[in-house]
Amino acid sequence: MAYEVKGVVARSKGAPVTVETIIVPDPGPGEAVVDVQACGVCHTDLHYREGGINDEFPFLLGHEAAGVVSAVGAGVTNVAVGDYVVLNWRAVCGECRACRRGELQYCFNTHNAAQKMTLADGTELTPALGIGAFAEKTLVHSGQCTKVNPAAPPTAAGLLGCGVMAGAGAAMNTGAVRRGESVAVFGCGGVGDAAIAGAKLAGATTIIAVDIDDRKLEWAKQFGATHTVNSRNTDAVEAIKGHTNGFGVDVAIDAVGHPAVFEQAFNARDLAGRVVLVGVPTPDMKIELPLLEIFGRGGAVKSSWYGDCLPSRDFPTLVDLYLQGRFPLDEFVSETIGIDDVEAAFEKMHHGDVLRSVVVFK
Ligand SMILES: NC(=O)c1ccc[n+]([C@@H]2O[C@H](COP(=O)([O-])OP(=O)(O)OC[C@H]3O[C@@H](n4cnc5c(N)ncnc54)[C@H](O)[C@@H]3O)[C@@H](O)[C@H]2O)c1
Ligand SMILES: [Zn+2]
Ligand SMILES: [Zn+2]
Repeated sequence: MAYEVKGVVARSKGAPVTVETIIVPDPGPGEAVVDVQACGVCHTDLHYREGGINDEFPFLLGHEAAGVVSAVGAGVTNVAVGDYVVLNWRAVCGECRACRRGELQYCFNTHNAAQKMTLADGTELTPALGIGAFAEKTLVHSGQCTKVNPAAPPTAAGLLGCGVMAGAGAAMNTGAVRRGESVAVFGCGGVGDAAIAGAKLAGATTIIAVDIDDRKLEWAKQFGATHTVNSRNTDAVEAIKGHTNGFGVDVAIDAVGHPAVFEQAFNARDLAGRVVLVGVPTPDMKIELPLLEIFGRGGAVKSSWYGDCLPSRDFPTLVDLYLQGRFPLDEFVSETIGIDDVEAAFEKMHHGDVLRSVVVFK
């Protein structure tokens, strides 16, 4: 028996999202249905609705969520009904060429539910990042459910499902920040502030937050920024060199995904430093850099998909650190909202009024 629930749908490019009745099928083999308790609004949801990811409208948005498993299909052994889970978009296959060489964080063939959720008229929905969690219930592959300590409230734990994990992992996994290193983070939204928190957790002693919005820079200090630079009115590269004895940082993280920002990150790093791109560019963006600089500066230029996380390793760890007061998940939650308020939350995100709006389901 399928379920009829409310969900937030982007029907066409740029059109405001609408709350629609959606049909969630019973879980088939390997699948699970999850009662969503909370789901954060990530910039990537806005990218979907702007047509920046692909054209497979209509989308069922939402992908940063925690909830309780309410039904499982045949053969599911990793979770059971009643389990408290964070949803992930990296259910590794174990068989692709990345998995076979032991690099599960790059899995090229991650699992999603085989069945489709639909609108009431049968139109198939594309769930954002294979999740679709701005809905009272969602259908996922069971591997997309990661059990975590239920002592962590869903508004906090759910954020690990995307933006916070991407940012923290960009620092801790991709950038491999070490004790005593210097780090600059460009763009202090949810992802950038998580990179700041991740850098702090990893032991960085100089953490420079860069943004064009002074409010964001104030918030960045709460996550561990030791210095701030407003790049709207200051040369960010020079300012960063000024805070690092003229050398630049060991790790520069672009959490915006814009050519001008990437160039700043590239130039703000010390010799042999690492540049990490975690912000998502749009298809039209291009970058031109002197090849000699790429060679001459050495180090690494890396991108960070989902913070190179392994959900089974990283979600429970960060939840435990949160419960011990060592990772500030609650600080990301600017407001809790209802399912009808996602469009307004996009507006607030666009104007920089929030770090994360989190949809809460009763
Ligand atoms: N790589 C991944 O796996 C992954 C996962 C989640 C999100 N993302 C991406 O990360 C990016 C950030 O997401 P978010 O949710 O934090 O977005 P956000 O809108 O909350 O934050 C973006 C921040 O960048 C700042 N900014 C904008 N232009 C700037 C500029 N020129 N220089 C400096 N700062 C600037 C804004 O003021 C804002 O504080 C998005 O592109 C999103 O799609 C990537
Ligand atoms: Zn794989
Ligand atoms: Zn996201």
